[in-house]
Amino acid sequence: MRIIAVANQKGGCGKTTTAINLSACLAKRDRKVLLIDMDPQGHSTLGYNIKTEEIGLSIYHVLREGLLLDDVILNTSVQNVSLAPANVVLFTIEQDIAFFSEKESRLQNAICKLKKKFDYIIIDCPPNLGLLSINALRAAGEVIIPLDVSFFSLHGLSRLLETIEMLKRHTGHNLETFILPTMFDRRSRFAREILDEVRNHFNGIIFSTPARHCSKLRESASFGVPICEYAPNSIGHWDYAGMADEVLMQEDPSMYEASVAVMESAINLIPDKVERQAAQYNGIVFVYRDAKAADVKIAGDFNNWIPDKGVVTSREKDGTWKKVINIPPGAYQYKFCIDGDWKEDPGNPNVVSNKYGSYNSLVIID
Ligand SMILES: Nc1ncnc2c1ncn2[C@@H]1O[C@H](COP(=O)(O)OP(=O)(O)O)[C@@H](O)[C@H]1O
Ligand SMILES: [Mg+2]
Repeated sequence: MRIIAVANQKGGCGKTTTAINLSACLAKRDRKVLLIDMDPQGHSTLGYNIKTEEIGLSIYHVLREGLLLDDVILNTSVQNVSLAPANVVLFTIEQDIAFFSEKESRLQNAICKLKKKFDYIIIDCPPNLGLLSINALRAAGEVIIPLDVSFFSLHGLSRLLETIEMLKRHTGHNLETFILPTMFDRRSRFAREILDEVRNHFNGIIFSTPARHCSKLRESASFGVPICEYAPNSIGHWDYAGMADEVLMQEDPSMYEASVAVMESAINLIPDKVERQAAQYNGIVFVYRDAKAADVKIAGDFNNWIPDKGVVTSREKDGTWKKVINIPPGAYQYKFCIDGDWKEDPGNPNVVSNKYGSYNSLVIID
């Protein structure tokens, strides 16, 4: 079981949006997920259309009265997502448990007693580093920090990272840290520069899929429906689906290949005439379908961005283009070039921004 806290003391940077949509996207990938709302504002609870004023038992009763999590967990409209709800009652928790022993480990202890089985626990933190966030970070093995790149404060981020370091030292427990750029507007030069800076600064711990600005995310929250059900064809869904894939990839890198429909074993896919070459190449097949396209090329990190260099191409009658490339394990950015126009791979939701202000598709081969 992986326990992931979503934390940042700054409000409005996308914590709740991430908690709601990551939990839903993981559930769509057949993971059993428990979302724990640790914010008295109850936005994660509302985001699953559960009325905060109608909740009987909540996370407050777990933290204050030692109730079992199993007794407060509710089912949600999304199969495989359960919710430990929160409401305004949680505002007084700091005073109410101020003199309890182990007041910083109340959530961790509750999770230890959990009987229901989950693959993931996602914890949505409030916008401060008080007792609720400390409880969440203590219980978690990982923390995702959403970072609003449209309004970036390095100062706030370093304070949070310091807190996490302090917590690691204090509790002696390792907390894997990941940064998720949010509200990214690729048309804004400022946002692109900030994203590059954050990438340079936090190389290796940053999600390669930023959550782009998408008004459907805001709408979906107000209707109490996760984006995967509210607007499955929106960039908000693609980005959170890509993020969920990255989380699963950490679990087992081979999972990723199954989730990227365009990548299949070359040996089974390619037509007879290139079979021999492909077998010899033992390559990866990238598939592009467009009956009208007269010329389709592929370029990426794997061929120094020289279109079709080192690529075996086949085209089928129905307009399916197959590009076979021998690539060693690694992460690669790439694009298709369709009759002279560069395009991201429409079959691959995972993209990263490039220095030209557009996107490259990203594939990871292990
Ligand atoms: N990628 C995004 N694009 C557009 N709006 C977003 C995005 N992420 C979050 N929002 C909106 O921004 C507001 C703050 O986000 P929220 O997730 O509630 O932040 P936090 O939990 O950190 O306070 C909400 O109205 C939410 O719907
Ligand atoms: Mg929130």
